[in-house]
Amino acid sequence: MNDSAAVPEVRVFADARAAVPVLLDELRRVIEHGTRPLVGFATGGTFTAMLQALGDELRGRRIDPGAFRATHLDEYLGFPPERRGGMVHELGTHCPPLLDMLRDGALLPVPHEGSPSGLRAHEERLQRAGGVHVQFLGIGRNGHVAFNEPGTSFATGFHVTTLAEATREDARARFAPGEVPRQAVTSGLATIAAAQRLVLCAFGAAKAAAVRAMLHGDVGPACPASVVRRHGNVLVLLDREAAGGIAATTASG
Ligand code: F6R
Repeated sequence: MNDSAAVPEVRVFADARAAVPVLLDELRRVIEHGTRPLVGFATGGTFTAMLQALGDELRGRRIDPGAFRATHLDEYLGFPPERRGGMVHELGTHCPPLLDMLRDGALLPVPHEGSPSGLRAHEERLQRAGGVHVQFLGIGRNGHVAFNEPGTSFATGFHVTTLAEATREDARARFAPGEVPRQAVTSGLATIAAAQRLVLCAFGAAKAAAVRAMLHGDVGPACPASVVRRHGNVLVLLDREAAGGIAATTASG
C-alpha cells in the first residue's frame, strides 16, 4: 500500500483531561444530527476520563441516553458483560448509564464467545442500527487499533485474534493477580474504517512512536492505526507527550 492518503486533523492538548470536552462535543454533534445514531466507544485508560464525564452528563440528563445507541470495539474472548476485566464491565464501571442501555438493548455488546455466526450477526446488527456514526479509538504502543495487532489486513471484519505480547503486558494490571487472556474478539480494520467519523486519542509519551508511525510512516498493516489515513473524516487528539514525535500540529487547550 502507498501513502496517497488523507491527512487527519490533529489537535494537541496540554493534557488528557483537556480533550474530554472535545470528545463529549463529538458525541453531542452526532446526536444533534442523527436519529438515534450509533456511537462506537473504545475502552482502556485513554477513555476513562471521557467515560466518567459522559456518565455525569447522562445522569444529569444533559445528554439524553435515549438519543443514541452504543457499541464498542472489542472484548476478551469468553468475558461476558458482568466479568471483571472485560470491556463491557469496564464501560459500565466508568459510565453506569451504559449498563442501563445494555439492559434496554441500546448498547450492542461485542459477542464475547466469538463464534463466526455470532460475529456475522453482530455486524448485521450494527448495519441495521445505521452503521457507526462516530467511532472513538485508542492506539496501542505497537500501533494497534481495537485489537488489530501489527500484520492485520485492512480488509478484516469482526474476528477472533491472538493478542501481541506487548498488548498482554499492558493489560497485566487489569487482570492481576490472574493471567491476561491470550485471545480477544475485535472489530476489524474494514469495519472500523466504515464508520462515518473516526476520533482517535493518544495520551502519554509511551504512545509517541506509535503516533508518529500512524501519521508519518507507511500506510499498511505494519501499523494498523495508519488505516486512519485511508479515511477522509478523522480527528486525532493528542497530549503534548504523545505528540512529541510528530511535525508541527494545531495547538489547542
Ligand atoms: C480497547 C482498544 C485498544 C486500546 C489501546 C490503548 O477497546 O480498542 O486498542 O484503545 O490498547 O489502550 P489504553 O487506552 O489503555 O492505553
